[in-house]
Amino acid sequence: MSFKLLTSAPAKIILFGEHAVVYGQPALAVPIAQLRAQAEIIPTGQPFRLVASDIDESLPINIDDQLVDNALAHMARLTLQALNVRPPNVSIIVSSQIPLASGLGSGAAVSAALGRAIAFATNGTLPNEQLNRLVYEVEGLHHGTPSGVDNTVIVYERPVYFVRDQTLETFSVAEPVHLLIADTGNAALTKVSVGDVRKLYETDPAFTQPLLDAIGQVVQQARVALESGDLPTLGALALENHRLLRQLTVSSPELDTFVQVSMEAGAYGAKLSGGGRGGNMIAFVTEQTAPSVESALYAAGAARIIPTTIEP
Ligand code: PMV
Repeated sequence: MSFKLLTSAPAKIILFGEHAVVYGQPALAVPIAQLRAQAEIIPTGQPFRLVASDIDESLPINIDDQLVDNALAHMARLTLQALNVRPPNVSIIVSSQIPLASGLGSGAAVSAALGRAIAFATNGTLPNEQLNRLVYEVEGLHHGTPSGVDNTVIVYERPVYFVRDQTLETFSVAEPVHLLIADTGNAALTKVSVGDVRKLYETDPAFTQPLLDAIGQVVQQARVALESGDLPTLGALALENHRLLRQLTVSSPELDTFVQVSMEAGAYGAKLSGGGRGGNMIAFVTEQTAPSVESALYAAGAARIIPTTIEP
């Protein structure tokens, strides 16, 4: 009999608070359960092999080589060290349905799935708290100094109200929140937009700090709106958050257009999501308005639209 041993982790989307979260403000983010990264464990009795053919063509690689600059190899090494075990005699095949480099957390999700697979294959115990730290460390190698919001929502697979260096707080929604996640198709590196906000913060703190504080206020109010099911207020807060992110210089003409066409087509709120300058935006819609907003976004040039619902 053959059977599959699979571990997995979801994609994520930031609802409110990106960028300001790097400076200690709160952010709200949710997992996207239907989009996942997976790791399949195949017992082979042969030396450990790590394969990720659809993600990373440089694999399989020798994970013992400390010089290998590869996020999956780093994650494998860190997990083996944390568990204090030798590589198991299995092949692990990592794959992902999450679009790469698009602010949906594909890197953190494949790391989390891989960490879980290695723990499983070595009969080790890797509590979420520890896995979260390892995934953060790998993210840090490739993205500078991330706030930690991505790895946290992905590892715990819960909606999170995230404040840097504070204990995990989750939140729930009173009403279903229907979202369309629209990709501008313009790849943009989060590292670059985060670095530019850092420069702005250092050169003009009098301009930047009030914007970061204002985003923090929006996040607090958005949490109340989500928890009480006040969707009109939630929508207005999304627009306000987008306006503040524009002032922080992380929007783009395409993102602004997508926000505008979403509103014209009946969305009750819209904003960029994640690093900005390209990548994704989210439109807050109802079941009734979703089709018209989706068509409008495609007509405006969206490369891909992922519908998702945050359920109460
Ligand atoms: O581009 P994403 O979705 O990975 O989001 C990055 C979020 C930022 O707040 C811009 C950076 C961070 O580390 O939190």
